[in-house]
Amino acid sequence: MPSFPPLKNDVLLRALLRESVPYTPLWLMRQAGRYLPEYNQTRARAGSFMAMAQNPELACEVTLQPLLRYPLDAAILFSDILTVPHAMGLGLQFLPGEGPRFSSPLRSAADVARLAVPDMAELRYVFDAVALIRRELDGKVPLIGFAGSPWTIACYMVEGQGSDDYRLVKGMMYSSPQLLHRVLDINARATVEYLNRQSEAGAQALMLFDSWGGVLADGLFQEFSLAYTRQVLEGLVRERDGRRVPVIVFTKGGGAWLEQIAACGCDAVGLDWTVNLAQARRRTADRVALQGNLDPMALFGGEPAIRQQARRVLDDFGPVGAGGHVFNLGHGISRHTSPEAVATLVDEVRGYSAALHGV
Ligand code: CP3
Repeated sequence: MPSFPPLKNDVLLRALLRESVPYTPLWLMRQAGRYLPEYNQTRARAGSFMAMAQNPELACEVTLQPLLRYPLDAAILFSDILTVPHAMGLGLQFLPGEGPRFSSPLRSAADVARLAVPDMAELRYVFDAVALIRRELDGKVPLIGFAGSPWTIACYMVEGQGSDDYRLVKGMMYSSPQLLHRVLDINARATVEYLNRQSEAGAQALMLFDSWGGVLADGLFQEFSLAYTRQVLEGLVRERDGRRVPVIVFTKGGGAWLEQIAACGCDAVGLDWTVNLAQARRRTADRVALQGNLDPMALFGGEPAIRQQARRVLDDFGPVGAGGHVFNLGHGISRHTSPEAVATLVDEVRGYSAALHGV
């Protein structure tokens, strides 16, 4: 483990572990992204999304961009959840104006039979970026590493791209469940190695994105998504350098299963905007911290609405007490968001939450 400068702002890590904090820490999903002109400039210079993600200097540059503009409480590694299936040989491409696409998706039993946990050397660019970002952050805020959940990356691996109805992956689930179970087990084992290597390289908290868990039927969510999230959590190294590495699990559309998600072994649960934070807190009895959950579209409501909605989220969570709250959006920030709207949000969350905490 390389040694890094001491951490100056540990408010995020403290909130994730439900320790006392002077204010509610804040970061934003997709905080390094296309709503920032400087991101678009770096991306144009790199030529493509993957060229940027695979170059540790450029990945570091864009990771730090939102922190130069806003007093956020965390950096999140600039990368993508689909780097893991790319390393498995599925051939990831981001075509301009379109989402991700795989040139060799999993369509047959033979495709699945060939699948294996990739050599982590294929993902070295990610671990190099983590180490470089940690150095460049100079202890300013903690660095969050991440991966997709086994189910969510399987959606892309089978569909070959984003989907409206998930008919190929769900078709496999209903017709040949053992085939999908094999994919999910390989994904889970790969994700354990991938996240452990990220924390070894310097990531101080980890997040699992189960962006498409919410499209599953009750019963099937538990069998095809949550069981493999649990498998990942069981394999993770939870302490580095004498400090716990908190893990956040975010299931978009997972409100119905909140109690079960909170019991999967994570330290914190990410929530989308369909869930009320006060109710979520009662249902999980402060056994985990909660992260979220402003609707990203609230950033299109103009300054008074942004301030009001930010206060509503903080008020919904209520006095922190034995709980822990990390302010975030309920999903990634839209590329059409104005950087000024983000400045307003950050200002309100910081000011109002410090007042609530009596600072
Ligand atoms: O949050 C951050 O700032 C860190 C970086 C990050 C990216 N993707 C960069 C990115 C993270 C954490 C992700 C996670 C991710 N990637 C998820 C889970 C979170 C979620 O949004 O549900 C998913 C499903 C993906 C897959 C993916 N990557 C899609 C569907 C797309 C295209 C959709 C879109 O927003 O355009 C991407 C591309 C992508 N990944 C972009 C960024 C900044 C935009 C692409 C670009 O610059 O061309």
